[in-house]
Amino acid sequence: MRSCICSLLLASGLAWSQSVSSFINSEVPVAKANLLANIGPSGSQSQGAFAGVVIASPSTVNPDYLFSWTRDSALVFGELINEFTSGRDTTLRSQIDNYVGSTQQIQQIPNPSGTVTTGGLGEPKFNINETAFTEPWGRPQRDGPALRASALILWADFLLSENNASYVVNTLWPLIQLDIDYVAGNWNQSTFDLWEEVDSSSFFTTAVQHRSLRLGSSLASAIGQTSVVSGYTSQAANILCFLQSYWNTAGFITANTGGGRSGKDSNTILTSIHTFDASAGCDAATFQPCSDKALANLLTYVNSFQGLYTINSGIPSGQAIATGRYPEDVYFNGNPWYLTTLAVAEQLYDALIVWNQQGSITVTSISQPFFSLFFPSIATGTYTSSSSTFATLVNAIQIYADGFVAIVAEFTPLNGGLSEQFVGTPVSANDLTWSYAAMLSVAGARNGFIPPSWGAEGLTVPSTCQRQGPTVSFTFNVQATTVFGENIFVTGSLNELANWSPAGAVPLSAADYPIWSVTTTLPANTNFQYKYIRIFNGVVTWESDPNLSLTTPANGTGEVNDVWR
Ligand code: NOJ
Ligand code: NOJ
Repeated sequence: MRSCICSLLLASGLAWSQSVSSFINSEVPVAKANLLANIGPSGSQSQGAFAGVVIASPSTVNPDYLFSWTRDSALVFGELINEFTSGRDTTLRSQIDNYVGSTQQIQQIPNPSGTVTTGGLGEPKFNINETAFTEPWGRPQRDGPALRASALILWADFLLSENNASYVVNTLWPLIQLDIDYVAGNWNQSTFDLWEEVDSSSFFTTAVQHRSLRLGSSLASAIGQTSVVSGYTSQAANILCFLQSYWNTAGFITANTGGGRSGKDSNTILTSIHTFDASAGCDAATFQPCSDKALANLLTYVNSFQGLYTINSGIPSGQAIATGRYPEDVYFNGNPWYLTTLAVAEQLYDALIVWNQQGSITVTSISQPFFSLFFPSIATGTYTSSSSTFATLVNAIQIYADGFVAIVAEFTPLNGGLSEQFVGTPVSANDLTWSYAAMLSVAGARNGFIPPSWGAEGLTVPSTCQRQGPTVSFTFNVQATTVFGENIFVTGSLNELANWSPAGAVPLSAADYPIWSVTTTLPANTNFQYKYIRIFNGVVTWESDPNLSLTTPANGTGEVNDVWR
């Protein structure tokens, strides 16, 4: 498919759009067939996979992907359930029933993350015969239960509309409740990110956890499981609060709280498309695809690949380029990925759906750099659909979005097979199921398919967060000579350290005198200032300046050894 798209790069907008349409029209049936080939028990590429088990890829060496990842499977079935329930593909019902059956098995399998009640739901992947994968791996990955529950809730909502409440209550709800309870109880713990590399908090994981709790609480209300509703909604509010903290002062979303990278990552683009809710408009609280924050973030993310890949060289800013997981990626030497390049297009198509639906585009100071790609002198303000600016933006952004699909078209082999990565030729796992699901969902978005609402409309961020996210155990040790009756305390710029108040300062103990120590629970990956104080007969003496400063680790435990000044 390479030659046809290349020669059209310079063609007119209409021919361009038609060439993207014709790629989609020919690729979608191939993607669907190849996706289904990767699902047991009868998929032609997945011999040995049990019913409803999605293999990540048939590749068994370099890399060995003949496993079933909870994340990949849930994203794949999320797409299939959307296609079935919207009437776009009426053939998928038995596949969905198989996925339910396989979820019933897999949830119960004890694995290295635990049992069903002790954390096992966070296990990232299983063997294709529904046994545990017991080798070392980046675990747990806490996006899996959230994504799986969300897919099953879409299915439950459809069945309720078909008056099949008994199946929902008796069969689906027990599975959904296990996953949502896990999210409600563990979202605050550190997790490996969706790329299975960074152990901290991760934007994608937090965002899909939030969505799953909103979906879970409304399903619970709908079927009379009222006892869980307030717990789910209150944790959802806490997560929404924490979600805001990923937005950074440089004007993009930091993908992970740990990891020591730039933080620019397709994690954030995937979040935007997998938490799209058209009824929420361009709301930035949930980083909707057309929100100013999500658009500013898209620009920063895409730009980070500008000089990175040979196949991008010479393409000016404002035109689509190939993108990968994150710019620092070295997996298979770090290449563009089909599913990330398609996700950029999908975020833009989702945005176009909303702009057209609401009949206006609002440019804020945050999104202005994004919009100025297409309209260099654009001023902040709202442009209604009757304005020429609106028309200019919508046309240019459609062409820009199509450009990302066109890149994928250019690097799709003639047989339509989609691997995980591409450089010029396909790289890494062949026939990646998730790549095919990404193709189907971008095609849906380009055709204007609007996924069911999950309750993002009108959400407001609580003014104070009840729980700030993951915590770590942190030990302060300070060497201090004291007189009898004199005690050492620590205080500083965190709630946990009494916000500099000597009255609430945390006492240290002198079991190892002259070393005074205390182990506290502090927010993970957080910079703070502190000082030790000594109190004798109620008189407070502060250490000399300057304040000490530290960043807590993203996970695990931390310790500092100081000497009183
Ligand atoms: C396999 C993981 O699936 C992949 O995401 C990761 O980049 C590599 N291991 C390297 O850690
Ligand atoms: C590696 C990717 O990083 C991860 O997200 C995915 O789940 C597995 N491969 C399987 O496709």
